[in-house]
Amino acid sequence: MFRFSKRQKTLTIGQLNQLEEIKMKPEWIKAISKMTFGIYVLTTTDKEIINGMIASWVSMISYSPPLIVAAVHPNRYSHMIIEKSACFALNILSQDQKDFLSRFKGPDPNAKFAGIDYRKGKTGSPILSGCTGYMECKIVDQYKPGNHTLFIGEIINAKLLKDSIPLSTLNYKGVYLGKD
Ligand SMILES: Cc1cc2nc3c(=O)[nH]c(=O)nc-3n(C[C@H](O)[C@H](O)[C@H](O)COP(=O)(O)O)c2cc1C
Repeated sequence: MFRFSKRQKTLTIGQLNQLEEIKMKPEWIKAISKMTFGIYVLTTTDKEIINGMIASWVSMISYSPPLIVAAVHPNRYSHMIIEKSACFALNILSQDQKDFLSRFKGPDPNAKFAGIDYRKGKTGSPILSGCTGYMECKIVDQYKPGNHTLFIGEIINAKLLKDSIPLSTLNYKGVYLGKD
């Protein structure tokens, strides 16, 4: 139990969290579903293994140094590979690449890359040839404040490949809610 001193007039956030376990409410989901996110293929590698997954909980968080955060659920195969290799690449999808959503969903990494052009970047992570552009990152920190791990990566290489309109959750049936 927390202590509530006689002079204290309001509860601190920590005390509030102790009183009530904060859970997602249906009303909150309605508001959250109107948030917009980019949709990326996050690729990783470890030795001869390569993998890619769709990721949308991604953001730039610093200009100097240039840092990107990607929230990855610990159940993802990619999570294990990022922890080992300490790097990832973010491939920016364009609006004509919606078919990549299903391609990068399945459990078989070989099927994900079958029949598409890619090369290995400076980190060894796959760079998809048809994408708008990419950023390669080296992990500099990681946190687990909730049910996803926040991988913070410093950009060590990036390039715009074509001037197309990027794919976002505005072009997708809904927002990723990250329940599992
Ligand atoms: C639009 C969309 C956005 C997604 N965003 C994320 C995300 O930000 N983080 C995450 O862990 N999973 C996300 N996912 C789920 C993963 O892409 C999915 O679980 C994938 O199969 C994981 O692949 P892996 O297990 O081979 O790494 C998203 C899925 C979709 C369709």
